[in-house]
Amino acid sequence: MNTQDIIALDKKYYMNTFGDRMQVVFEYGSNSTLYDKEGKAYTDFLGGIAVNVLGYGHPALVEAVSAQLKKLIHCSNLFYIEAQAKLAQLLVQNSFGDRVFFANSGAEANEGAIKLARKYYWNMGMNKYEIITTDNSFHGRTLATLAATGQEKYQKPFQPMPEGFKTVPYNDLEALEKAIDDKTSAVMIELIQGEGGIIEAEYEYVKGLERLCREKGILLIIDEVQTGMGRTGRLFAYQHYGIQPDIITLAKGLGGGIPIGAIIAREPVASAFDPGSHGSTFGGNPLACSAGIAILSTILQEDLIDRCAKLGDYFKGKLNDLKDKYKFIKDVRGKGLMLGMELDPSVSGKDIVNLAFERGFIINCTGYNTLRFVPPLIITEKEINGLVCQLDSIFNDISEV
Ligand SMILES: Cc1ncc(COP(=O)(O)O)c(C=O)c1O
Repeated sequence: MNTQDIIALDKKYYMNTFGDRMQVVFEYGSNSTLYDKEGKAYTDFLGGIAVNVLGYGHPALVEAVSAQLKKLIHCSNLFYIEAQAKLAQLLVQNSFGDRVFFANSGAEANEGAIKLARKYYWNMGMNKYEIITTDNSFHGRTLATLAATGQEKYQKPFQPMPEGFKTVPYNDLEALEKAIDDKTSAVMIELIQGEGGIIEAEYEYVKGLERLCREKGILLIIDEVQTGMGRTGRLFAYQHYGIQPDIITLAKGLGGGIPIGAIIAREPVASAFDPGSHGSTFGGNPLACSAGIAILSTILQEDLIDRCAKLGDYFKGKLNDLKDKYKFIKDVRGKGLMLGMELDPSVSGKDIVNLAFERGFIINCTGYNTLRFVPPLIITEKEINGLVCQLDSIFNDISEV
């Protein structure tokens, strides 16, 4: 089938939740490059939205998943699963946590974290169920995670939202303190808001947040679905702040493209889930966990975290050079290889995405007119230079219009 036939088929049979997508069908990928049906190459600075941390066709992932595929794809959680136990061990050994639960997506991991917080207090006979989240956040598309998401546009058509969620302004400790009451079980927060436009939590705010949670006896849940797995130049974003969360959630990069999500919690919070309180048919199956082991081991063994931090600094420096040159660039933000460039409203971020695409570069636009860069962690300096050079040329062209 050619590209136009596939698009026509999609338009007829697939639910139209994505509107008009980019007019392309990718056939295969290698390293950080995707190739479309016609053989055109695109350097990918989106990485499946922070998913393909090892790019495309990385031998460690392909070999681990292929080997597991031949042995055992799935088996029920009624039985013990070697890859599940091993990935849980690896995550615990490399984080604050004591125990792990596997889900299939970010929303599902967050949904589980919300349940865990409620169950923790329920076990103690306390009526603390409310979760405080922040404006402009994104926590998923299930009903509970939509209620947690601090963006009305996603919630409106699906009213009524489940009860027990409150949102407060981001980076505002006073507002948070005021919102806490005897019903509050947890604060759930992204340390860099990804979908919201690469907005970073300030250092003092996060320190204060941890302190408040301890003082008030409420749990701190960090949503690391986008920031986790080395993306920000540390394995997990909370490590930049020297804090100890109670729960973190992961997905996206954890499977490098094989769907998997995870909840990591410290004791005694983790053991609030007892037999029968939570579960998943697919969560933690052998195939997904074999991918997770390959991804995490490769990130650690190949020192991709340090590389991400250094390359991220380099990339951010280059984006800041563009900011010095073009007045319509309002801000450059982010850590590691999770970077954003906010444009003022005189320039359409969407148009820039399309122009970059025509020139063989994949980026996207999110939040308030913010270009987002979340490439595979194996992206090279040369590829970064390639993108920056094209952005420079595009910005130059539109400045002249
Ligand atoms: C911070 C954050 N949490 C949760 C989610 C939801 O993840 P998923 O789409 O895998 O359900 C996302 C997705 O973009 C995210 O960025």
